[in-house]
Amino acid sequence: MDWMKRYPVSEHIMEAVREARRTLHKHPELSHEEEKTAAYVTDFLKQLGLEVHTGLAGCGVLGVLHGKGSGPTIALRADMDALPIQEENEVSYKSKKAGVMHACGHDAHTAMLLGTASYLAEIHEQWQGTVLFVFQPAEEDAPIGGAQTMMEEGVFKEYQPDTIFAQHVWPDLPVGTFGVKAGAMMANSDRFQLIIKGAGGHASMPHQGVDTIVAANQMISALQTIISRNTDPLDSAVITVGTMQAGERYNVIPREAVLEGTVRTLTYQTKEQVKERFYQIVEQTASAMGVEAEVYYYDGYPATINDEELSSFVKDTLAKNYGEETVPQVVPSLGGEDFGRFLLHYPGVYYWLGTAIKEREVQKPLHDPMFDIDEGALRYGVEAMSLLTLEALGGKDKEDDGNGNTGEQHDR
Ligand code: NI
Repeated sequence: MDWMKRYPVSEHIMEAVREARRTLHKHPELSHEEEKTAAYVTDFLKQLGLEVHTGLAGCGVLGVLHGKGSGPTIALRADMDALPIQEENEVSYKSKKAGVMHACGHDAHTAMLLGTASYLAEIHEQWQGTVLFVFQPAEEDAPIGGAQTMMEEGVFKEYQPDTIFAQHVWPDLPVGTFGVKAGAMMANSDRFQLIIKGAGGHASMPHQGVDTIVAANQMISALQTIISRNTDPLDSAVITVGTMQAGERYNVIPREAVLEGTVRTLTYQTKEQVKERFYQIVEQTASAMGVEAEVYYYDGYPATINDEELSSFVKDTLAKNYGEETVPQVVPSLGGEDFGRFLLHYPGVYYWLGTAIKEREVQKPLHDPMFDIDEGALRYGVEAMSLLTLEALGGKDKEDDGNGNTGEQHDR
């Protein structure tokens, strides 16, 4: 069915989405502190008449909506948290909280999912099955996140999703376009800390100490050889040392240096390979330089791996509705994403929603103090989520109906 022609998303709903987005943008909350956001979401869903569960993984919220009869269960996920960044945009909806900003668009994700809930509630007589609206906290708090805890606390205990979808605003894609591919879409994102211990001394008498800065320097260079010499050049991987702390004074050899950073890979095999080499290089460089190194390696979010068949389904559904050119080929990002944890348990798809601001010659990336979206994208986000849900709920069942079956037999 041509859902969007037959039952267009009303301007009334879109107004509520814009309003929600701006309200949330003005009042951003950090990971694990999304109390007001959760209250806003809860109120909104209750007003729609949904069954609402709160307090999942702290501030997580689950809304449950049933259609006219039994059918598959589709889960839709939005993240709700903001970042410790001071907003530099001068807009009417600028963050009112100093040092906190929705610089990753989670305000838009939440608002669009509320819009999707409004729309699907409005036409609930027209579809069969159950839709789960999952509002997740703490996405930015890698490697802890909120997805795993939500599942442990029973977000899907009563209703197990057959399929799960999520979308993320994407400043590199024009409004009205979508990025989706089968397989890895986002990376394994691990985190590390190295504490290098040597012996302090006078800068003029290095032979009496063990210099941790020189050792750290060797380690940083040696770690980069994992990417250039050990991993397949056609298989992307990144090691970045993001912080380096050592020393107090120009003429003192510091006895300790601390390095922190991240490792990004797209496959499990590469992740394990890089991790193994990481330990070898740190330990053996430490030994060669005469320092001790404490290694803290944290396995972070797993890669976001899209289901093959469902990726084609998403592409086809969007292309049919908006045209082939709106679903361009994309390559994966080495960013991390907590949604990968949901995909370890439930087949689904994570796709990018184009939000590029036309007026900007150079787009500001996610996590930039001047990141913003073109709000024209909000309608596409609501429509896409709704369409994918309706097609995923309906398509299969209609075929099954021909055989006298209903959606009840879907794999759980
Ligand atoms: Ni994000």
